[in-house]
Amino acid sequence: MVFEILAKPIDKIKADLTVVFVVDKNLKHKFIKDAKIFKFLGFDGVGSCLVQESKTLYIGLKTLEYEQLRLAGAKAYEIIKNLDVKNVKLNSYLAGCDKMSFQSIVEGFALGSYEFNRYKEKKESCKLKNVTFSTDEFDGKEIDLQKAQIGLNNAQIIANATNFTKDIVNEIPEIYTPLKMAQDAQNLAKELKNVTCKVYDEKFLQKEKMNAFLAVNRASCHPPRLIHLIYKPKNAKKRIIFVGKGLTYDSGGLSLKPADYMCTMKADKSGAAAALGIIKGVSEMELPFEIHAILGATENMIGGNAYKPDDVLISRSGVSIEIKNTDAEGRLVLADCLSYAQDFKPDLLIDMATLTGACVVGVGEYTSGLMGVNDELKEEFHKCVKISGELTTPLYFNEHLKELIKSPIADVSNAASSRYGGAITAGLFLEKFIKDEYKDKWMHQDIAGPAFVQKAWGYNQAGASGAGVRMNLYYLNALAKEMK
Ligand code: BES
Ligand code: ZN
Ligand code: ZN
Repeated sequence: MVFEILAKPIDKIKADLTVVFVVDKNLKHKFIKDAKIFKFLGFDGVGSCLVQESKTLYIGLKTLEYEQLRLAGAKAYEIIKNLDVKNVKLNSYLAGCDKMSFQSIVEGFALGSYEFNRYKEKKESCKLKNVTFSTDEFDGKEIDLQKAQIGLNNAQIIANATNFTKDIVNEIPEIYTPLKMAQDAQNLAKELKNVTCKVYDEKFLQKEKMNAFLAVNRASCHPPRLIHLIYKPKNAKKRIIFVGKGLTYDSGGLSLKPADYMCTMKADKSGAAAALGIIKGVSEMELPFEIHAILGATENMIGGNAYKPDDVLISRSGVSIEIKNTDAEGRLVLADCLSYAQDFKPDLLIDMATLTGACVVGVGEYTSGLMGVNDELKEEFHKCVKISGELTTPLYFNEHLKELIKSPIADVSNAASSRYGGAITAGLFLEKFIKDEYKDKWMHQDIAGPAFVQKAWGYNQAGASGAGVRMNLYYLNALAKEMK
């Protein structure tokens, strides 16, 4: 799909269909030319209405909030994809039509158009190629064309990065192994500007004493990979490191998951997949930061050489870990990756992981949990990314929960002694691996809920949503603006 903005009256633009966003319910705006037949068609400004005679699609909007605009863009796409329409023009009256309004509509179209159909014999085909905005009819309000164009570009970069991540998460575990992730990362580095990629194998992990990461991999027939991408523009202002949980499959290991819970565990690589999407986004937007993505890629399987409950592992940082449950494997991989990440002296260190079912139980499927020692960082991030369309909530550490991960024979236990507060006790486990000097610079994002939802929601399809990509790209964009 090509999105463009033309400084022409809408009537001068050729297209197969006009899309009109209807914001108020009185339906009297000059752009609404079919009001007379709305009653007959049962349209009162809520939902949508396609008028064949005038070749116009009306989409009702509750408000002009950015998320409503995304939903409207996706709704328009959903209807248009079934029509014989190649070009559409948009004649909307978005009061105060700012850069972000354009950005949101385009994000809605582009995110809504995603499909994972690799394994379907019949693939849906959509004829829509061009979406054109007319600028001169936004209720007489001046539009900054240059800014609107930036909004259009950013939207496409952000949506493409998100859809790229969805493809990785949706791919099946037979195909998507740690080696495949490494290959994808290397290909990405070749395609992108200012991005390099190093891939480390099990010998490196042994040399680095990443015994927690290695233990998780032991019963898998696929070797592990530590993947390190760096986006380094000239005159970078800060070093920001993303660490991603890349469990290409999580069977639970010897603490085997029940059959029903094992389904969807191909999505346990979502944190790493999001970090790849972020690297794609930041390079395409040319953000002024040095950004790293460190991915811990492995499977968690069963077998005669599997690591066991009762084992004690000595992690890269020297902290010993009593294994109480082999299904709490993500935190083991992250412990070693976070230790490695701190060697690169980050100004900000963010890990993303489908870490706990408890987070999904606690805050619902659609929201990511934000954790860490620095309350201000979580709160600031939470506020800042509200406009991204991703939902987050800060979760707070406390001393009582810390007690629950104490071990009688090691420095820490990998599973808490109580099932209550499981998202936070997992966050507290990770904190054990953050050095004092980085404690305030670290944030943990548990994306277990929104990373993969088995039914469609909003403009997200059933399956992967690319959780983590948009919120972090929005955050980085805001940081870049602050720096200017
Ligand atoms: N990958 C899972 C967490 C998960 C659950 C992600 C549901 C997405 C949806 C993780 O490795 C896991 O199994 N965690 C355990 C931890 C427990 C054994 C302490 C969990 O949440 O049950
Ligand atoms: Zn697990
Ligand atoms: Zn897992």
